[in-house]
Amino acid sequence: MANVTVLGSGSWGTALAVLLCGNGHDVILWSYLQEEVDEMKRTHRNLKLNDNLLPDKLHLTADMEEATTNRDLIVFAVPSFATRQTAHNVSSLIPEGQQVITVSKGIEEETLLTQCDIIEQEIPQAQVGILSGPSHAEEVIVSLPTAVVAGAKTRQLAVFTQEIFMNDYFRVYTSPDVVGIEVGGSLKNVIALASGMAGGLGYGDNARAALITRGLREITAIATAMGGKAETLGGLAGVGDLIVTCSSLHSRNYMAGFHIGEGDTPKEAQDKVGMVVEGVYSAKAGLALGKKFGIELPIIEKVNQVLFEDKPARDGVMELMKRDKKSEIEGIAW
Ligand SMILES: NC(=O)c1ccc[n+]([C@@H]2O[C@H](COP(=O)([O-])OP(=O)(O)OC[C@H]3O[C@@H](n4cnc5c(N)ncnc54)[C@H](O)[C@@H]3O)[C@@H](O)[C@H]2O)c1
Repeated sequence: MANVTVLGSGSWGTALAVLLCGNGHDVILWSYLQEEVDEMKRTHRNLKLNDNLLPDKLHLTADMEEATTNRDLIVFAVPSFATRQTAHNVSSLIPEGQQVITVSKGIEEETLLTQCDIIEQEIPQAQVGILSGPSHAEEVIVSLPTAVVAGAKTRQLAVFTQEIFMNDYFRVYTSPDVVGIEVGGSLKNVIALASGMAGGLGYGDNARAALITRGLREITAIATAMGGKAETLGGLAGVGDLIVTCSSLHSRNYMAGFHIGEGDTPKEAQDKVGMVVEGVYSAKAGLALGKKFGIELPIIEKVNQVLFEDKPARDGVMELMKRDKKSEIEGIAW
């Protein structure tokens, strides 16, 4: 049994905290809002996760010091825009060598840093890893089979994460390719916005499959330019997460894109989804990474134009279809 704290009581942090309790660990779930803690204590539920009851032994708190004292593992599960601030606030409480993983997905717009990079910057004394892959909280909370990947620079942290989380409905693989995992998890949200737009416009499975496969090429090009391995993008944190996010009604990025495709403005679409749509932030970061590495990113570029330059989604799709004729894979000789 390990002492584990999950920072962030959104749907994913809560689903993982419940899973960890079920695995027999001593678990603290921290929220930055006392009201959220009070509500969970009163209702024994997190209303973001429907009627599923929280285990009695799950300890709920808004006290950061209590949440981070004597823990074997600290899991960052706050929305990606809040990772830096949360890491900064907690840093002075974290001992040398503390094991930390992030389960958040996103690239910081201003710095182009990943979640692990941000935590390493703010908490340099910690060892930092990541858990990512195709995993909707709504399915994990009801124990539906799920497979993910734990990445860390040291094998020891990846294997520790695997041991803590793995059970008979949650399968965890390990990988040393932290960058590949992080880029896959972050940029799939941008492609999911495009896939949602195609759905909202009334296009079918063909368009979705085209966006997934061509989107994967864009993500892979960026990830490898940043030092990640192409094989990782062919795995759970790449194509796996892309498939689930581009096809599921649980995906807030897909749903936001869907509303845009139906004619809503990006702001109206995000308001309808009612939760943070991280792909909107990652879209700008993706474009900036493309510029930095000199990589052409047609889908990510069109998503940016729809989100930030008032381009109608239908025009974006048409422009993608009418691009110059190309080979599917550059560099393969006849
Ligand atoms: N929901 C999923 O199925 C899922 C699966 C895998 C990964 N993720 C990733 O996990 C992260 C969290 O996602 P989620 O779905 O739990 O989000 P969510 O929208 O359910 O979380 C919202 C919660 O974030 C917290 N929060 C809001 N602002 C904050 C701040 N400034 N500081 C600290 N906490 C703040 C609040 O507790 C709020 O309830 C995201 O990066 C997401 O990409 C989510």
